[in-house]
Amino acid sequence: MSKTVFLQTYGCQMNERDSEEVLGMLRAQGYEIAQRPESADVILLNTCSVREHAETRAYGKMGELSEIKKEKPSLVLGIIGCMAKLHQEAIFKRLPSVDLVAGPAELYDLPYLLAEIQEKRQSRGKGQGVWGEGNAKIVAVDRAFRPLEHKPQADYHKPGVIAFVTIMEGCDKACTYCIVPKTRGQEISRWPEEIIGEMNRLVNAGYQEVTLLGQNVNSYGKRFPDGSGYQGPLGRLRLLENDPDALVDFPQLLRLIDRRTNIKRVRFTTSHPFDAHERLFQAMAECKSVCESLHLPVQSGSNRILRAMRRGYTAEAYLKKIESLRAYVPKVSLSTDIIVGFPGETQEDFQATVRLMREVRYDNAYIFKYSPRPGTDAASREDDVPREVKEARNQALLTLQEEIIHKKLHAFEGRQVEILVEGAGKIAGQWFGRTRGNHGVIVESPKPLGGRCVAVRIARVGTHTLFGDLT
Ligand code: SAH
Ligand code: SF4
Ligand code: F3S
Repeated sequence: MSKTVFLQTYGCQMNERDSEEVLGMLRAQGYEIAQRPESADVILLNTCSVREHAETRAYGKMGELSEIKKEKPSLVLGIIGCMAKLHQEAIFKRLPSVDLVAGPAELYDLPYLLAEIQEKRQSRGKGQGVWGEGNAKIVAVDRAFRPLEHKPQADYHKPGVIAFVTIMEGCDKACTYCIVPKTRGQEISRWPEEIIGEMNRLVNAGYQEVTLLGQNVNSYGKRFPDGSGYQGPLGRLRLLENDPDALVDFPQLLRLIDRRTNIKRVRFTTSHPFDAHERLFQAMAECKSVCESLHLPVQSGSNRILRAMRRGYTAEAYLKKIESLRAYVPKVSLSTDIIVGFPGETQEDFQATVRLMREVRYDNAYIFKYSPRPGTDAASREDDVPREVKEARNQALLTLQEEIIHKKLHAFEGRQVEILVEGAGKIAGQWFGRTRGNHGVIVESPKPLGGRCVAVRIARVGTHTLFGDLT
């Protein structure tokens, strides 16, 4: 009986992590992973709605894959993830050959949903074989949030040295440009014991670095699956007890991980600046496993725009946080997300962003051109920054960031750093690793280095990577 699945993922790291779990669950059900869509019985696209471009790409890909179904009517096509939640039945209008539309809260149901498709198509008596034929048109998008108790018992992670662990689902913020709260629902944190259990199993399996994932990890612990949390009545009580182990918020989770696991390196993403406090910076400084690196998306340097985005901080407050962080973790490297061309963004607003970038001197910056997302608050405002202006501002920030990173990388020359080698480089004999500050380093070695932490002296600088020699 043929049961092969091809899965392609768009979007954020949380989506990548979801896809690892989906493939793991399907494997446990007897599916094999197909390397090419043409040889699969089931094709799934795990989609993203964060910008229009992400949706256009997924629709394009699905259109392409629908062509395969013309030749092979038993093929099952599924759109899962954020676009599924947002567009629901409307997807069938554009892509009539799709069989399944399942949202992020329904991902753990996929094995059952695929079985349902099989039944539905077979019951029509059309076609041969286990999958039947036709278009099942099943929609599963009703849940407001993912029931964490449905999470598979086994851990499914890609083999390797670094792993991702989701610590919370959903987002309770309401940034006016952002669709994520609509697609991912309310925030729910996983129990600390479960996270630590998963991390210990990863350590035993040889993983050396874990990135903790959540849309806003800084509000971890606000709401656990049973409704308790630091913002609930029980949470206040726990706070009053003043027992450092009783209150499990994000800084405390970092401490628990540091104490109760042997993981070598911990990273986390994303931190919303509004909820990043001194307590977090203190924990970062205290915990040896926590890397000197923080992704702290600022989005804009203009207070007027930050207010319109409903980010809850000013540029000055953001800079103060960075100052405090740098006092606790002097060597910290910083990355950010920035949106250019938000409705009403003037040249003056844009210049404020340029100034902020010059002041912070990020190690990495992801620059996005604003794209209105239907149903968000910002989408009711006119998307009034012309395309060429968005493009020019995007280019200007990319160029500025290149200048900054170029200087920062050159400052590494001659210095000794520790890298965790993630695997082979693109050229034979070369290995790729990262510093604790998340800078990529290439090192040559005839002996395999994968999975090892090695000391390296930086010899020269490429465009975005450092080249080092083993010491
Ligand atoms: N929860 C994370 C990531 C959200 S999505 C956070 O708050 O940082 C990743 C990035 O996409 C955002 O930080 C933002 O910079 C960008 N983004 C979100 N919505 C967007 C939109 N409508 N147009 C352009 N960029 C957007
Ligand atoms: Fe979107 Fe804001 Fe939530 Fe990030 S914090 S996912 S930008 S609403
Ligand atoms: Fe995209 Fe959904 Fe992630 S919209 S950014 S895949 S949470």
